[in-house]
Amino acid sequence: MSNYQLTAPCMFGLEALVKREVKDLGYNIIKVTDGRITFEGDAMAICRSNLWLRVAERVLLDVDEFKATSFEDLFQGINNIPWEKYIPENGRFWVKKATTIKSKLFSQTDIQSIVKKAAVERMKKAYNTTTIKETGEDYPIRIFIHKDIVYVSLDTSGNGLHKRGYRKMIAKAPIRETLGAALVMLSPWKPDRVLVDPFCGTGTILIEAAMIGANIAPGLNREFDAENWKNLVPRKLWMEAADEANNAIKTDIELNIQAFDIDYKAVNVARDCAANAYVDEYIHFQDRPVQEFKTKKHYGVVVTNPPYGERLEDAESVKEIYKDMGSVFGKLEDWSFVIVTSFDEFERNYGKKATKNRKLYNGMIKSYIYTYLGPRPPRRV
Ligand SMILES: C[S@@+](CC[C@H](N)C(=O)[O-])C[C@H]1O[C@@H](n2cnc3c(N)ncnc32)[C@H](O)[C@@H]1O
Repeated sequence: MSNYQLTAPCMFGLEALVKREVKDLGYNIIKVTDGRITFEGDAMAICRSNLWLRVAERVLLDVDEFKATSFEDLFQGINNIPWEKYIPENGRFWVKKATTIKSKLFSQTDIQSIVKKAAVERMKKAYNTTTIKETGEDYPIRIFIHKDIVYVSLDTSGNGLHKRGYRKMIAKAPIRETLGAALVMLSPWKPDRVLVDPFCGTGTILIEAAMIGANIAPGLNREFDAENWKNLVPRKLWMEAADEANNAIKTDIELNIQAFDIDYKAVNVARDCAANAYVDEYIHFQDRPVQEFKTKKHYGVVVTNPPYGERLEDAESVKEIYKDMGSVFGKLEDWSFVIVTSFDEFERNYGKKATKNRKLYNGMIKSYIYTYLGPRPPRRV
């Protein structure tokens, strides 16, 4: 089976996690650059990586890369690509997104239209036709230009991988599912420890944790564009990968995961989302303010995304909440805490410096992940 080069883009700052996920799936890493993990794999790797990667935003099938400092270079480069090897005669293709960084070419709309034109010309010649009908399946193209090198890929995922399919209702300020999974993976939580999110909102972080605990593939509940690419990924591979994922689910586990939020409506939404993800049996939900949180449990882990002051006028109340968090969490001496927020001066209001502080770019928004590491639980004999 032919080998492909695949790229999994992710939020800046989370590359090491995606690299580990790809390696765990058994694929060779080719390179890691800012927000992009490139690896090698066969057609089955397209199915498995879409189904299993928790932190990556999508899986791209890399088609070519070349230098371009003018639109003429871009046209020629795209026109030289054997698109007929990837897209059938009736395939629908367009540039879904063009991103450029530190490059001469920067107009996204021009790049989109030139790429489309050059690819259409190539397809017409290859299929010996004067018109391209595009009545078939979707083959979205992604263009990434970095320092004048054009990276051309087909988007195998379609909708971003953060769209797991369990969040159906709209709620205020939910965190991305991919970031929720990343926070859990960066925390010291293991399924035998208590996990709490006292600001659970729609429950993303805990739903992701329960899916990790039960080894549920995050993509099992949705579809991917490449499922319809019969010319590149035989249907039976998708079925095999889905069977594999279904068989991997652990059903004989016990998890102690607790979700709280001051807003009972948010808690109801979280419960519904958890049910959609088939993990509601693992999570206990309750509407309760963080100020009332107390527990007799030891060595627990809090992973949370507290309010961060979306509006300027919220800043004072947010500072109060951080202060309250500091005093409530401060009593849990052997617990660990992972807190993500884009609010500056979190540590000052919380009242304690983090053990580790990691910068992250959520799109253009800079956020910080503050980790307060407690002691490890004693080994069980
Ligand atoms: C940024 S949102 C969390 C979003 C969540 N991670 C998600 O993915 O949906 C912050 C949440 O904190 C809740 N909240 C605000 N003040 C609170 C308090 N004092 N105690 C507990 N929850 C509070 C809000 O209702 C909101 O749901």
